[in-house]
Amino acid sequence: MSDIFEKAELVLAEINAQSPANAAELEAFRIQYLGTKGLIKGLMEEMRNVPNERKRDYGQLMNRLKQDAETKHDALKEVFEAQAQNAAGSALDLSAPGEPVPLGSRHPVAVTMNRIVEIFTRMGFSVADGPEIEDDWHNFTAMNTPEDHPARDMQDTFYVVDAPGMLLRTHTSPVQARVMENRQPPIRIIAPGRVYRNETISTRSHAQFHQVEGLYIDEGVSFADLKQTLLYFAQEMFGATKIRLRPSFFPFTEPSAEMDIWLGTDTEKNYRLTKGTGWLEILGCGMVDPQVLENCGIDSKKYSGFAFGMGIERQALRLYEIGDIRLLFENDVRFLRQFAAAM
Ligand code: DAH
Repeated sequence: MSDIFEKAELVLAEINAQSPANAAELEAFRIQYLGTKGLIKGLMEEMRNVPNERKRDYGQLMNRLKQDAETKHDALKEVFEAQAQNAAGSALDLSAPGEPVPLGSRHPVAVTMNRIVEIFTRMGFSVADGPEIEDDWHNFTAMNTPEDHPARDMQDTFYVVDAPGMLLRTHTSPVQARVMENRQPPIRIIAPGRVYRNETISTRSHAQFHQVEGLYIDEGVSFADLKQTLLYFAQEMFGATKIRLRPSFFPFTEPSAEMDIWLGTDTEKNYRLTKGTGWLEILGCGMVDPQVLENCGIDSKKYSGFAFGMGIERQALRLYEIGDIRLLFENDVRFLRQFAAAM
């Protein structure tokens, strides 16, 4: 019986000694050893003549034969195919379909911001912007918040260590000052963008968030204009039927107010979002303080105006019925993908 083992060992040595030099030789190799009528198949069929106590050894030998032959065949096949492609020269097939490029989607905060901008541009506002690394003058002093003013405490500020007087803007209001310094009324702008505060314990739970600022300066602008503008916005943005203006304080407006929109408490979501009151606070606003106009070179005897500033994240939560603000910052694509259809 040992001659069948010897024969198999011989075939194994033969396989390992072979080196087909091209695709035709490789095919001959395949037929000779791995083909349905090949040598390995023939040797396998001898299994039934092998005594039981040696079947195991024979089986292992067969496996080695097969593996060695297949490995050699597959490796050489790849080599010869690559060679053939290179030789063809025109390996670049211009008619082949392209690699699909995965498309991203807009972040819900960006979508919400775009919607706000779109509503105000329809009312004749144009978009203005300013730097995120701002100077003290525009962020605070021009906005009627001098250095010793307690209102500065309301906005815990990141200062730039090696550039005294520079900071990360704490609100979009400095864009107001920048616009007014550079042109005369009529002024009708909105300024969307990022703002920064060191408020790790607040509900925002994040040092960076987004606001949209609005400013309207002309002759004879009144609080009624402010109220109507905001009501229109609340209707367009949320389908809200009512707004509420609560007296408040901001250094750069007088009088100042905070605006709530009426969502009601009909649904559990609205109940939760409004903490059971039906009202959702959206923004701060007021009539631009004459001192701010003067700081920025605008005649406060001739002109008046209103301003407002709103956070975007909370509006995004409302718009998309997102239950937790942290989801907006985690950037988990499984979450973000849900907004792929939104513009
Ligand atoms: N800048 C204020 C803040 O971030 C929001 C604000 C309130 C802006 C009243 C305004 C305004 O323009 O008139 O808290």
